[in-house]
Amino acid sequence: MVKIAPSILSADFAILGEEVRRVERSGADWVHVDVMDGQFVPNITIGPGVLRSIRPHTKLPLDVHLMIVRPESFVEAFAEAGADLITIHLEASTDVAETLLRIKGLGKGVGISINPATPFEKVRPYMDQVDLLLIMTVNPGFGGQPFIHDCLKKIEQAREHVDRHHLCADIEVDGGINSRTGKLAVQAGASVLAAGNALFGAPDMSKEIASWKRF
Ligand code: DX5
Ligand code: ZN
Repeated sequence: MVKIAPSILSADFAILGEEVRRVERSGADWVHVDVMDGQFVPNITIGPGVLRSIRPHTKLPLDVHLMIVRPESFVEAFAEAGADLITIHLEASTDVAETLLRIKGLGKGVGISINPATPFEKVRPYMDQVDLLLIMTVNPGFGGQPFIHDCLKKIEQAREHVDRHHLCADIEVDGGINSRTGKLAVQAGASVLAAGNALFGAPDMSKEIASWKRF
């Protein structure tokens, strides 16, 4: 069954603890945490201190998406603050293989992400080292952008690769996911849906998550 990872980028940051508890009560599988540095992306969000503050509010895995340059400098800090999965961007790291190893060495789930313009070919050499491939379906930086349909082909390529090589990596999609695009992504092979606006903006997050799990 597909896993649902609400992105707290769309939460009310003034009551983040309560928002994270609401995510868990609503039947989500992971909490998706978007970390932005104003360099890799044109926006700034949260750092390890905020992650540490939300950690006691949920038992769900914290799925930390690092949209920052030189993520190698920060993986220890996010691991120590309570991350369960740490995802770096292929485009942002000067030594991808070494950084993935370092995340593994910290005992955390290892994730790698690619922007819409980056082809699957670039990430293929790392696929047997990761627990998660995060395929961006918008250009990262902001919630509420429209899903880029061209990315569906990349999801299919990733699913074909994972199945053909009997890998157990999850394929997560992130950006513009709603009840329509989420279904398309799952049909293309996604196993995890990260979504901000469509879940936090829904009248009832539980109902929305329950219906997405039937995709
Ligand atoms: C985009 C972030 C996403 C974002 C998704 O840069 O990585 O996780 O929160 O938001 P929606 O679902 O609103 O596009
Ligand atoms: Zn994200």
